[in-house]
Amino acid sequence: MGTQSEPWFKPLAVAIRAAIEAGDYFRSRIDSVGEVKTKSSPSDLVTDVDPECERRIRQHIAEAFPEHDVLGEETTEPGSEASAEATAKAANAQHLWIVDPLDGTTNFVQGLPLSVVSIAYAEAGKLCVGVVYDPYRQELFYAVRGMGAYRVSASQASDFANGQSTSLPGEKLQVANEKELRACVVATGVPTRGEARAWTTEAAFKMVGKVKSFRALGAAALQLAYVAAGRLDAFWEYDLNAWDLAAGVLLISEAGGIVREIGGKPYHLGVRNVVAAGRDDVVEGIDAAVQIPDALRG
Ligand code: IPD
Ligand code: CA
Ligand code: CA
Repeated sequence: MGTQSEPWFKPLAVAIRAAIEAGDYFRSRIDSVGEVKTKSSPSDLVTDVDPECERRIRQHIAEAFPEHDVLGEETTEPGSEASAEATAKAANAQHLWIVDPLDGTTNFVQGLPLSVVSIAYAEAGKLCVGVVYDPYRQELFYAVRGMGAYRVSASQASDFANGQSTSLPGEKLQVANEKELRACVVATGVPTRGEARAWTTEAAFKMVGKVKSFRALGAAALQLAYVAAGRLDAFWEYDLNAWDLAAGVLLISEAGGIVREIGGKPYHLGVRNVVAAGRDDVVEGIDAAVQIPDALRG
């Protein structure tokens, strides 16, 4: 029996094909970005390429699953409140796709090759499939609920999505096993909203002294995929949107790691402040240091 008769095969194949098309497209545009506009703040950027990537992804989904809902960054009003509201409305849909067509727009605008496509598929709020695609390295990370997380080349992923292989392809992902925070390489991101930037400054100040090293790669979904792959030991960030997180969250949990809301609550699609790591001890250590100070909370 091949994988093609499995219920998750079609959503996974659609996510892979859509991610590769959108990612390869934005990569082809890195030297020809048109006008750069700002959205909710001067550091919340959008180019002509972002919505075109979402349009292409939506087309794949609509052709395969015309009845499914899509929550996409470029078709949601900008800003944290609007995004939280749209997510709350969509979260319990029976069939929901959660799409960041180009995660790492600032990197893209700067010509830094650190941007990915992030696509997740959820049923009644439960993540079932997640794909993060890095077109610069032609490296695709995917996860299927209950089946594990994998890293695969774009060409292997395409062959699989086109029905040319019978088992899940690629190298199985396993999170890092590091238990001591001081031995960890920990990543974060710089939020676009002023208030969350203040939280980040406070937390980063505390964290730098506690860890082996510190990174901010400018693409949340890429950093989550790297936690799943054990390339980063841990990650935390404030004020992320559902589309920054969903695919990466499934990658990490299927690779044996932990993702939860800062403050200890379990992850759900509406979570915006997250901490993720391979091991519980590390999650606890970061959580204790990056709790949003009451004085800074809105
Ligand atoms: C951003 C990136 C960045 C994170 C920001 C996100 P975008 O997404 O993931 O790493 O720090 O909070 O908004 O706008 O490039 O899709
Ligand atoms: Ca994003
Ligand atoms: Ca984006």
